[in-house]
Amino acid sequence: MKKDLVSVENLSKEDILYILDMARRMEKGFDDVSSSRPLAGKIMATLFFEPSTRTRLSFESAMHRLGGSVIGFSSKEGTSVKKGETLADTIRVIDGYSDVIVIRHPYEGAATLASELASHPVLNAGDGAGRHPTQTLLDLYTIWKEFGRLDKKVALVGDLKYGRTVHSLALALSRFGAEFYFVSPESLRMPDHILRDVGERTSFKEFSGIEGVIKDVDVLYMTRIQKERFPDPSEYAKVSGAYKVDKGLVSKMAKNAIIMHPLPRVNEIGPEVDSLPQARYFQQSWNGVYTRMAILLWCLGIDNIS
Ligand code: NCD
Repeated sequence: MKKDLVSVENLSKEDILYILDMARRMEKGFDDVSSSRPLAGKIMATLFFEPSTRTRLSFESAMHRLGGSVIGFSSKEGTSVKKGETLADTIRVIDGYSDVIVIRHPYEGAATLASELASHPVLNAGDGAGRHPTQTLLDLYTIWKEFGRLDKKVALVGDLKYGRTVHSLALALSRFGAEFYFVSPESLRMPDHILRDVGERTSFKEFSGIEGVIKDVDVLYMTRIQKERFPDPSEYAKVSGAYKVDKGLVSKMAKNAIIMHPLPRVNEIGPEVDSLPQARYFQQSWNGVYTRMAILLWCLGIDNIS
């Protein structure tokens, strides 16, 4: 059976731990893996119907590091989608050009559709306000690398309604016994179906301010308010700038706690925080290359790497 990655819920705990361990192997043996080119001759297609910097470029970097090649587009401009081609037809065609498909699309369910149509593995690089499983794996890798375990106290802060990264991360971390503080404006609360799933496995509390949780957390995971998903711009105006991490706030954190952010940030973390020992968001984004190398090897069924 082909190995798609549409949602973290489709991965077993063993799959997740396998990918984290493979990411560690990629990081440790980086130069050797790059020179042994385990994916030489393989082609990865990147179909990005929404903007991206980190996800697309770290996938491309990962594929090149593994010796494979990359084709794709970074917006629908310049493709036949502009002529009215359906997503289904685009997928069927690209499936014949490539060995693995990475797709980002504004519609929830687009990656599921692609996985049903393609004969090659499909990796969901973000579907609207739905899921972002490859980001979650690199987030898990970052936490695991830091603490050696995943059952930590984690605050997810910001846009918990439209943020796909926090949906996937909450679902995945809850399976490993993390405890959650969900911090958001009332209008951007974590969706009920995710609260239900998470609540069946672990404990969570909801807050409207960071102050009440800052001393207790191991991981402060900030997110951008997802402006592009608001049907009404005046609703965005009410919540934009709701949370800001500055030096004063960081001084209240535990010494070994860390600050993460999937990036891009707008104003959630002041630049003066970048040089503090708790800041991990740039390392987190670099971890994306090792993790996506691991995901590519996993989905293509290659594990006898040097
Ligand atoms: C996130 C996304 O696209 O969902 N970015 C990313 O992939 N690193 C977060 C965001 O856009 O705010």
